[in-house]
Amino acid sequence: MGLNQSFAGACPKQPNPPLPKVTMPALMEMKRQGKPICALTAYDYATARLADEAGVDLILVGDSLAMVVLGQENTLAVTVDEMLHHTRAVARATRRALVVADMPFGSYHSSIAEGVANAVRYIKEAGAEAVKIEGPRTELVRALVEAEIPVIGHLGLTPQSVHRMGGFRVQARTAEAVRGLQADALALAEAGAGAIVLEGVPREAAAAISAELPVPTIGIGAGPECDGQILVFHDLVNLSFAPAAKFVRRYADAAALFHSAIEHYREDVERRAFPSDEESYHLPPSARHELETGNSAVANRDELPDWEG
Ligand code: KIV
Repeated sequence: MGLNQSFAGACPKQPNPPLPKVTMPALMEMKRQGKPICALTAYDYATARLADEAGVDLILVGDSLAMVVLGQENTLAVTVDEMLHHTRAVARATRRALVVADMPFGSYHSSIAEGVANAVRYIKEAGAEAVKIEGPRTELVRALVEAEIPVIGHLGLTPQSVHRMGGFRVQARTAEAVRGLQADALALAEAGAGAIVLEGVPREAAAAISAELPVPTIGIGAGPECDGQILVFHDLVNLSFAPAAKFVRRYADAAALFHSAIEHYREDVERRAFPSDEESYHLPPSARHELETGNSAVANRDELPDWEG
């Protein structure tokens, strides 16, 4: 960014006419109209802004940030304060998409009151418009709705249950388990969840749930019949430094692009090809003259125009 440029103030790429703001009721309307919901994770200003300008409907500040941004092994260690910090950056960048903050492990597991108190922080201090919680926690969903906090449920492969599940494994692989998942999804919807993320479940299970649920399902590794899809940004652009899961489609190779850019930069620095004269600031001619000769060529310095050098 140039010294005299303000990225935050730059004109956003807005379609003409601008698309209306996405709200929780708008997601419900999209399901009613059979219009697929496009969701993506983002964790910072730049990626949230790109996702928003590209027309993504829902931006999730996922606790996957623990893994793809902070380099942790799973999502368990990320804290409420870390999530708040990233949610603020995403909310600052987002104009149209619905901003949803993931409640991290431990922030809603001890008591309903603690869950509501932490959820309030995401709305009040960070600008989130909804929160997401994992598991069939109907009592907490009711309490959040009562507190005017829109909530999205998350069922199937719930990464915060990694130790109970014995790893990141596809869930609901028997007819009985599918019936259990259906019952949990229905109970969450009846408790007031505005949408349900279905992660790592067989296509047939997600299709049955999506068909019968009154609220939208948003799938990740759950097949094409869900009402919407979500991917982790770093998986989408190959920045996650891990082999892609079966459900990931890579739409770009940012790792290769960034690698090459950084290598070229290093080479240019090493051979003194960066910065060039055009990329350098210069003294005004009078000051240069004075510096070189020791004589002042300009009587009144105040007469010098503002000069960008
Ligand atoms: O944390 C996250 O990124 C998520 C999505 C995978 C749904 O919960």
